[in-house]
Amino acid sequence: MESIKCVGILTSGGDAPAMNAAIRAVTRTAIYNGFEVKGIMRGYKGLISGEVIPFKTQNVSNIIQQGGTILKTARSKEFETPEGRKVAYETMQREGIDALVVIGGDGSLTGARIFASEFDIPIVGLPGTIDNDLYGTDTTIGYDTALNTIMEAVDKIRDTATSHERLFFIEVMGRNAGFLALNGALATGAEAAIIPEIATEVDQLAELIQNGFRKSKNSSIVLVAESELTGGAIGLAQRVEKEYPQYDVRVTILGHIQRGGSPSAADRILASRMGEAAINALLEGQRNVMIGIQNDVLVYVPFTKAIRNDKPINRDLLNTIKILSI
Ligand code: F6P
Repeated sequence: MESIKCVGILTSGGDAPAMNAAIRAVTRTAIYNGFEVKGIMRGYKGLISGEVIPFKTQNVSNIIQQGGTILKTARSKEFETPEGRKVAYETMQREGIDALVVIGGDGSLTGARIFASEFDIPIVGLPGTIDNDLYGTDTTIGYDTALNTIMEAVDKIRDTATSHERLFFIEVMGRNAGFLALNGALATGAEAAIIPEIATEVDQLAELIQNGFRKSKNSSIVLVAESELTGGAIGLAQRVEKEYPQYDVRVTILGHIQRGGSPSAADRILASRMGEAAINALLEGQRNVMIGIQNDVLVYVPFTKAIRNDKPINRDLLNTIKILSI
């Protein structure tokens, strides 16, 4: 858009590997196209408090391989209020920022949608979350690295599970989505994945035990998606201790290890492509869209669609896991 001279960039919500690669790509594509760039620290919090730094191409040198986000991140309660968003808008006016690129997950893009509608600001979102729960994109920035982290951790737990002939419930992140658990289970040869998407339809634990999941094995790994709906790894282990006391059960909660680390090649490539696409979107006059990827093609997904809560999960993979673990 012709009226855009300066693009602000921020990361918000839970960090994800390759957010830095995205920051680099947005910054350099913007500068390449003649825009000024300003980095906003600590997400919407920094937009409210005015923590804004002019970005040159050198500000993003040597970061493509780093985990976390050089812009820092936060979850801002103040930005959820109209008063907070007004102060954020005033910062933009003062700093001469005419457009925003927001890198974050569901909550961050929800904030972007409201902000854009209140103040008529061009905003483009990049899906930055390990949860992979944004609609309209096959994958999100950080998801592949988190899956690889899960894989490495579960491989190690498998060794001790086998030695002790134990049943392990390993809890992974994902908020209310089961993508990490499902594909983590496939990648590690786990015996099952327990995911929130089908939690209200079947008793996944009872089904697992009734299927005789340990007929041919003495140890088992079950990946559990964190969520009240699944009961979490601790909840499931307590049930096993009570209902099936013959099993020697243990729990591991992988936690924030899943959010850190140097990004995988796939995530660096995705973040670089999406970062360039964010600036191209602004040049084309797009606003209030998230950059998505579908069948390796970059697409624009309206915020209202992206933040829908029902991104479909491939349920057939549960059966694949079952077949492959006989
Ligand atoms: O959205 C990313 C995520 O890591 C979720 O998987 C998890 O539920 C949540 O953030 C944890 O947030 P926090 O770091 O604030 O504890």
